[in-house]
Amino acid sequence: MHVALTGATGFLGLRLVRRLLEQHDSLTVLAHAGSRDALGRIARFMELTGAPAESVAELPVRIRVVEIELGQPRMGLADAEFRRLADELDVIWHSAGNINLDDDLVNLRRVNVEGTRSVLNLAAAGARRPMVHHISTAFVGGARREGVVYEDELDAAHGFENGYERSKYEAETLVHEWSLAHGRSAVVMRPSILVSALPPHPELPLHPLQFFGRIAESARLGTTSTGVDVPEKDRPVVRVVGHPRGHLNLMPVEHTADVMVRLANGPHSTRVETYHVVHDHDVPVTTLVALMERMFPVRVQLVANRPDDPTPLEAAVALHPGFAPYLSHRRRFDDTRVRTLLGAVSSGVRVDLDYLGSGLDTEWTASPPESPAGHGHTGPAFRQYRLATQAAVRTSAC
Ligand SMILES: NC(=O)c1ccc[n+]([C@@H]2O[C@H](COP(=O)([O-])OP(=O)(O)OC[C@H]3O[C@@H](n4cnc5c(N)ncnc54)[C@H](OP(=O)(O)O)[C@@H]3O)[C@@H](O)[C@H]2O)c1
Repeated sequence: MHVALTGATGFLGLRLVRRLLEQHDSLTVLAHAGSRDALGRIARFMELTGAPAESVAELPVRIRVVEIELGQPRMGLADAEFRRLADELDVIWHSAGNINLDDDLVNLRRVNVEGTRSVLNLAAAGARRPMVHHISTAFVGGARREGVVYEDELDAAHGFENGYERSKYEAETLVHEWSLAHGRSAVVMRPSILVSALPPHPELPLHPLQFFGRIAESARLGTTSTGVDVPEKDRPVVRVVGHPRGHLNLMPVEHTADVMVRLANGPHSTRVETYHVVHDHDVPVTTLVALMERMFPVRVQLVANRPDDPTPLEAAVALHPGFAPYLSHRRRFDDTRVRTLLGAVSSGVRVDLDYLGSGLDTEWTASPPESPAGHGHTGPAFRQYRLATQAAVRTSAC
């Protein structure tokens, strides 16, 4: 079975590569043309997360890189090359995307919508009728802030919080149109916000909550002070729009890739099947507030509306409007279809202040401090994670 993947160098894609290499001898990586050394970045991720040297050394043999540009017709490939690639494939995972919530809608559509169109054209052209696994987002639910969002819902009735959500909604719509037009099946996987307890590393992609760091940069917040260093009374108050009983679904990225690969192996019908790949517990907005206060020497006050007289700090927060509405969200994502197919899928990982803190405000050490099954540099959960990581790269099933 020949499997191809877009977005393999991304925050999620790197974990998908690791899982897919457990199941397949080889993988075609449809890498972003002009971006730096995709194979080297994948190898570096494997090294940094504990893969044995011999498994990393095998990667050039097991991974073929084809450079593409999603924003161009036929992904920027010559017609003959596009057709040859299409005919080789049995499965296409489409994980590439522009996840910048603050980007312009034109840029977001170019990659997220036109890119999905190109991937679907590739699948349509393939002689072996490759299966499409499309990575969407639970946030195609849009600006509906309360209630329950179901897996079979896809409509624009509530509008969207940002251009990213809209572009991902439009991409999912394309998958449905393609399926109907060609009589083909596809799996749409909708993760919530992906997180990791791995600290930021200059050679690895960041996760969305690491935008807190960008806010700090915009505000030129002290480079050395954190919320831990500065006494409560000395911290400026920052008014942030949010609901005190708001909650968000944050999903550990390792577990997300695991669930996705299991979903892909399940039985599928001849139409589009959609799955919410989400955590079984939401994180209160107050935990995110505590996280901000732990990272930065401020006191966050949740308010109902944007202040008319913003301080420079509040103005800096407003420079990143894409994420801001989520602090007012109180909706839940139903994942009945995932549970029906796979049974209980809990990872056992609590996404709490400690988990999020270790993914944001700690330094990278020789041993990553996170495991998919718990916390701790050296505990059994971390050792288990390292073993799983090593096995993932070593194992080559068909
Ligand atoms: N991260 C989340 O919290 C989250 C939540 C829900 C859904 N999702 C969805 O999950 C998928 C993966 O997200 P991620 O977090 O892995 O994103 P990411 O870390 O930003 O990675 C994006 C990937 O897409 C590739 N890419 C970007 N523009 C491209 C282009 N024009 N042509 C070809 N490849 C291009 C990038 O390649 P280079 O690195 O080489 O540029 C990279 O491999 C996306 O579809 C996203 O919408 C993500």
